[in-house]
Amino acid sequence: MTRLRRTPYAFFYLEDDLQLDISGLIRGDAPGAAADARIIALALLTGDRHRLGREELELLASVPAERWVAVAGRDPDLIASLSEKGLLLVDGEVNGHTVLRERDEALSANQWNLYAALYHFMTQWTGVDIGAVDEAAAQFARQTVAQIDAFVAQHGPAPEPFPELSAIEAVRLPGVVRRDGLFATLAARRTTRAFAAQPMKLEELDVVLRYVFGCHGYGEAVPGLVWVRRTSPSGGALHPIEAYPLISNVEGLKSGIYHYRAREHSLGLLAAVDPPEMRRIATSFMCGQGYFGAAHVSFVLTARFYRNHWKYRRHQKAYAGILMDAAHLSQTQYLVSAELGLGAFVTIALNAREIEQCLGLDGVSEGVIAMTGCGPKAAGDSPLSLPISTNPSVDP
Ligand SMILES: Cc1cc2nc3c(=O)[nH]c(=O)nc-3n(C[C@H](O)[C@H](O)[C@H](O)COP(=O)(O)O)c2cc1C
Repeated sequence: MTRLRRTPYAFFYLEDDLQLDISGLIRGDAPGAAADARIIALALLTGDRHRLGREELELLASVPAERWVAVAGRDPDLIASLSEKGLLLVDGEVNGHTVLRERDEALSANQWNLYAALYHFMTQWTGVDIGAVDEAAAQFARQTVAQIDAFVAQHGPAPEPFPELSAIEAVRLPGVVRRDGLFATLAARRTTRAFAAQPMKLEELDVVLRYVFGCHGYGEAVPGLVWVRRTSPSGGALHPIEAYPLISNVEGLKSGIYHYRAREHSLGLLAAVDPPEMRRIATSFMCGQGYFGAAHVSFVLTARFYRNHWKYRRHQKAYAGILMDAAHLSQTQYLVSAELGLGAFVTIALNAREIEQCLGLDGVSEGVIAMTGCGPKAAGDSPLSLPISTNPSVDP
C-alpha cells in the first residue's frame, strides 16, 4: 500500500444512540434518555452501513476523493479499518481492496449519479426469504382474514382508497364502455400465482418476446447513436433494459438461463439447467416466492446502466427513467400475456446480488431491476388471489 484516496460513493449521517439515564431513573425523574449521536457511514461500494469513530471520520476528511495522497504518518489501523469498510481506497495490491477500488472506478466510469447510487446499492437485497424475513408482507401474502384483521388492528386502517377533493362541481362523464380488442385485454389483465403443469407453447413465448422485448425498429440518429423502438416507451429511445428468460417448461426448448437478442429475435442459451433446479433458482431469486418460481418462464429484467448513463450522465432523473422503462415492459408483458390467455406477474422482491452473480453481471454497468414471468394458468383461482369484484360505475 503506498497511496490513499477517499471514495466519493459514501454518505455519512448522525443517528441518536439512546442511552438509558440510570441515575435519573434512581432519582425518580421521568424515564428519558441521553442522546449521544453516533456517526453512521453508508458505503455504496459494499452496500453496508457502519458505525464510525470520530478518529475514523477525521482521517477520512483529511484524504481527498479527487486524487491519491501519500499515507504520510496516518494511523495504519484506522486505514485498514476504513478500507475494509469500503470508505478509503488504497492503491497497492492489498487483498480484497482491489475489488473495491475497481468498483469505485466502475461507478465513476459508468456515470452513476450519487443519489441514484445511494438508493440503488443500499436497497438491494441478498439472502432474503420473504416468508421468514418480511413478516408483514408474509401476513398479507397468506391472505387470512384474521391476519389482515390483526395487521389493521396494529397499524390502523389503510388510507382512503378513493380520495374525493372538495370540488366546485361534480361532472358526470358519458361512461362509454368498450369491451373489444385492447379493452378486453385490459380487463383480463391479472397477476397470476398458480401456473399449470402443462408446458407453454414455443409460439406463445415467441409472441411474448417479439411483442414485449422485441425491437420493432431502430435508426442511427448520428454515427454512434442508435435509437430503438419497442412496443413500450423508453427515455431517450435508448431501451437499456435487457431480458434474461429463465425457462423451465416451454415446448421444444432446453430448460435453462437465456438472453434474449432483441434485434434478431432469437435466444442465446447461457446455461442449461434442469427444470426442477431452474424453478428452485427462480424461486430463490424471487426471495422464496415459489408460486412465481413455478412459472413456465420468468424474465430477469436488467438495466444496462451504461447505455442510459451515456446520454443522461450522472443525471438526477436517469435512475427514475430506468425504473419506468422496466415498469412499462412489465405492463406490456402483462397485456400480451392476457391477450394470449396466459398468466403473468411482476416482482421487485429480489435477491439482486445473487441474480447478478449468477448472470455474471457486475451490478454497476449492468444490474437487476425486476423480474416478470408468464405461462399457462392452473385451473381455478390461487388461494392468494385477491377478493376483488368489478366496480359498477366503471364496468356496469
Ligand atoms: C412493483 C410491483 C411489485 C410486485 N411484487 C409482488 C410480489 O413480490 N409478490 C406478489 O405476489 N405480487 C407482487 N406484485 C403484484 C401485485 O400484488 C398485484 O399487482 C396486485 O395485487 C393487484 O393485482 P392484479 O395485478 O391482479 O390487478 C407486484 C406488483 C408490482 C407493480
